[in-house]
Amino acid sequence: MSSYREFAKLYDDLMNDVDYEKWFKYIKKILMKHNCTPKNVLEMACGTGNITEYLCDEVNSVTCFDLSEEMLSVAYDKLRKFKNVKILNQNMIDFHLNGKYDLILCACDSINYILNYKDLQKVFVNVYNHLNHGGLFIFDINSYYKLSNIIGNNTFVEDREDIFYVWENYFDYELSLCEFYLTFFVENEGAYTRFDENHTQRAYKLEEITLALEKANFSDIKAYDGFTFNNAIPESERINFVALKAEK
Ligand SMILES: C[S@@+](CC[C@H](N)C(=O)[O-])C[C@H]1O[C@@H](n2cnc3c(N)ncnc32)[C@H](O)[C@@H]1O
Repeated sequence: MSSYREFAKLYDDLMNDVDYEKWFKYIKKILMKHNCTPKNVLEMACGTGNITEYLCDEVNSVTCFDLSEEMLSVAYDKLRKFKNVKILNQNMIDFHLNGKYDLILCACDSINYILNYKDLQKVFVNVYNHLNHGGLFIFDINSYYKLSNIIGNNTFVEDREDIFYVWENYFDYELSLCEFYLTFFVENEGAYTRFDENHTQRAYKLEEITLALEKANFSDIKAYDGFTFNNAIPESERINFVALKAEK
């Protein structure tokens, strides 16, 4: 994969406008609303471990994994102070772990990196099989609306003190894929080093996700708008899904 390689070292800097504390508080509100008090948690696509840190402070045991070794290496530096975390290199599509969990989490549109519907179905079945009965699956996506209307076919430029980057995006309506072409110039002692990354995200319609969750046997499926408890609407940019593996 040509994504999340050199970019991993810049990820936390570039995400410094994302309030992970607020994000985690929202996850805790979801847990309270759905009467879930998890003792052990699995976080898929944990990236550099920004949500994982909060989880480690709150629950007995945390397992997290990501596909990118470079992201995991940053996560390792952040998380090694905790004794209750296991960090693994796995793929959401075919991960296999011995334990079962009270909560499985996948934050910050990582699910959009699953590019075809068959694989999405595999992820959901796999998550279901790794959950305890009564356990919750919580994840969020960049909505179809956001990828096609806001990000897609647009170019963004950001000029920061020591990083300049251009983010060009193309949306393919036939395949529902949004291609991101990122070019970074990173300053180091007066010289700029260039590197490039390509990312692809799949734009899923809310109904497609709901159907895949139902097919995987999840129940009580909720799709919330942004960081609220309002139902998602067609113009929602981030949709938070909550799905239950029912008690036996
Ligand atoms: C936008 S980042 C989000 C990272 C982290 N969850 C956060 O909140 O900052 C997306 C992450 O998904 C990971 N990823 C993409 N496809 C994956 C897959 N098939 N299995 C596991 N991780 C994957 C990437 O390596 C990257 O770390």
